[in-house]
Amino acid sequence: MPEERTYNGAVPPPGCPAHEATPLQQDDLRRLFGPEAEADPAGLYEKLRAEHGEVAPVLLHGDLPAWLVLGYSANLTAMRTPSRFSRDSRRWTEFQEGRVAPDSPVLPVIAWQPTCSFVDGEEHRRLRTAVTDGLNNFDRRGMRRYVTRFADQLIAEFGSIGKVDLVSEFAEHLPMLVMTQLVGMPEEYGPRLVEAARDLVRGTETAVASNEYVVESLRRTMDRKRSDPGADLVTRLMQHPSGLTEDEVLQHVRSVLLAANETTINLIAETLKMVLTDGRFRAHLSGGQMTLPDALDQVLWDSPPFMLVPGRWATGDTELGGRHIKAGDMLLIGLAAGNADPAVRPDLNQPLFGNRSHLAFGSGPHECPGQEIGRAIAETGIDILLTRLPDLQLAVEEEELVWRGNWMSRHLTELPARFTPRVAFQPQDPTTTASAPVVSTPEPAPHTPPAATVPPAAPAPVVPEQRRGWWAGLMAKLRG
Ligand code: HEM
Repeated sequence: MPEERTYNGAVPPPGCPAHEATPLQQDDLRRLFGPEAEADPAGLYEKLRAEHGEVAPVLLHGDLPAWLVLGYSANLTAMRTPSRFSRDSRRWTEFQEGRVAPDSPVLPVIAWQPTCSFVDGEEHRRLRTAVTDGLNNFDRRGMRRYVTRFADQLIAEFGSIGKVDLVSEFAEHLPMLVMTQLVGMPEEYGPRLVEAARDLVRGTETAVASNEYVVESLRRTMDRKRSDPGADLVTRLMQHPSGLTEDEVLQHVRSVLLAANETTINLIAETLKMVLTDGRFRAHLSGGQMTLPDALDQVLWDSPPFMLVPGRWATGDTELGGRHIKAGDMLLIGLAAGNADPAVRPDLNQPLFGNRSHLAFGSGPHECPGQEIGRAIAETGIDILLTRLPDLQLAVEEEELVWRGNWMSRHLTELPARFTPRVAFQPQDPTTTASAPVVSTPEPAPHTPPAATVPPAAPAPVVPEQRRGWWAGLMAKLRG
């Protein structure tokens, strides 16, 4: 790591010639990847802010250069000015000059795809309207019913044991189980999709096989929706007046599934951690200050599910936060760094009850169209959990909790909790979701890739004898 450049502790103001008079060499730049950066990203952002101000030059894997936007207002400018900062990654100079290795770990998120995330202007409006129309059709009550049903099913798996890892047995399952229903996929795809989706974003060697599993599952669902349409996202995208091609439908549903899963898992896990450790929330239960929606917002400020999103690409030579940005440079939108900008939050310990002006869902034309769905899954799921297990408490010291990170996000690895075991716990009957979106009839799961390339199947949870029925049924269907 290069020596710190503190400018005697002072931050040069935007436009200060100190930034430009001594152009930084590659060796001076901090890396956003590697164990040191990933262990304490917030600390890294603060060092970068002290050294560079609102916009910092950084290096990505393979020492590819990028600008990390740290300032709250500079982030808003980058996201809200598509004429200067495009979402089209094909503009990246590093791509055009062949400096991105074919196995670069940034490729899965940066390589151009035919989805609304990678286009601007009229084309963006065409694709995004189809997605937002498809998502807006799910009413909140129908959603809550789904979340309640799946949360109850998950709680039933560990409810009589008295202990649980809330990350691997709850947070990692709930969003994908709900999303399969909104998308129109058969319910029994859920558990394998949970594994495949996580594996995919972790970029492990089984990521390609996992991606194939997701794509194959979607292909089968689309095939079936052609003859058996329903009130689901796949059908709505296929029938939308925007006229999406088959490939566009597939790519959009895939990216919705992935965008929804990883983020909502993080939101649930971090909020549960807060609920179990923050005295302000516990105080609320006995008439104190913090409600569950407040806790969600506090997490969206302090630990946004994506710490940063790549990216924006400069359409021409321009300026941001006092830095000269060249045409084709990549900007990383620093959601976590922007949320902690002293210009908007001089005291990070000051609670922000009810304040939703955080950057966690982005802003401008690409602002997250699924934020209400993500919030509803997290809020309802946690509410059900706390209602069913009112004496839920952390089973380890808070200091023992561990996070695993990458350059875009970090995840709690475990959240062990204990509670008084519940003996008789019946999840709702899955057939009682009359007004909710159509639940597909079961169909065989897609071909499972060969064992060597398959991501490890989720370890079967320890299921109390009286609850084995639901899980065993699912596993039996999955195994064919
Ligand atoms: C609750 C957790 C969630 C968080 C924190 C989150 C965050 C974000 C952010 C920051 C962006 C903007 C990226 C950019 O500006 O480049 C985004 C875009 C997007 N999100 Fe979410 N998201 C969440 C949940 C969801 C859910 C549940 C869905 C779908 C049901 C979804 C679907 C999308 C899509 C399709 C885009 C791309 C929109 C576009 O490019 O026009 N997200 N999300």
